[in-house]
Amino acid sequence: MTSAITLSTLRAMKKRGEKFATLTAYDASFAAILEASGVEVILVGDSLGMVIQGHSTTVPVTIDETIYHTRCVRQGSANTLLIADMPFMSDATPELALANAARLMKEGGAQVVKLEGGMVIVDTVRLLSERGIPVCGHLGLLPQSINKLGSYRVQGRDEASAQRLLEEAKILEAAGAELLLLECVPAALMKAVSEQSKVPVIGIGAGADCDSQVLVLYDLLGITPGKRPRFSKNFLEGCGSVEAAIAEYVRQVKAGEFPAAEQIIA
Ligand code: KIV
Repeated sequence: MTSAITLSTLRAMKKRGEKFATLTAYDASFAAILEASGVEVILVGDSLGMVIQGHSTTVPVTIDETIYHTRCVRQGSANTLLIADMPFMSDATPELALANAARLMKEGGAQVVKLEGGMVIVDTVRLLSERGIPVCGHLGLLPQSINKLGSYRVQGRDEASAQRLLEEAKILEAAGAELLLLECVPAALMKAVSEQSKVPVIGIGAGADCDSQVLVLYDLLGITPGKRPRFSKNFLEGCGSVEAAIAEYVRQVKAGEFPAAEQIIA
């Protein structure tokens, strides 16, 4: 029997300089394959709004839908650390976030909740953390803010925004965040955040210098409709089966082979 992955497992891996693999999933069957393939962390991302529900953004996803998919994933993977996204505005106030995060844990089986934002979520992260709810702070590109951003583009390119992000990462950690996730930032900025952080840092489209990589499962399998993000990779191509593709992703993340130069944003 495999032993369960916990936050302590990930902290110990970071200390040893050992990378862990993170991947999204939304149902029990894929979750079981991920767990059997050695994925340490499953994220029930609000990307489910795009890849499962067919929306053009993650904004319409509700807390009830996220709980449902989190519960499905938990059924298929008892030993993998399970993070669930707090959908758009389900964390609009610290009190609302506390109530919704508790539902994700009690009804969905999540062990960690992920919130998008920097300074704006600090009080929420502190409250959740004080009440025993582990938080992953999501910085960089914040897909829930797409209507403000206008497009999904790299964040933290100029000195001022890079400095702000570094500061926000520090403040979220001080507020109690147990994990950080950086999306679409330059590789050098990711390296700086990883080096300053005691907590494990997960990256997507943010270079190789971090403790874990995450991809949207459907991007990894090459079945996401439309254009594939430049930082992702179709692992099914050349692997022949879903199981082999996921196992190869895990191998490449742990070996530091993914992301390779062609997936890294300078
Ligand atoms: O919703 C999601 O799948 C995510 C990942 C892209 C990090 O937040």
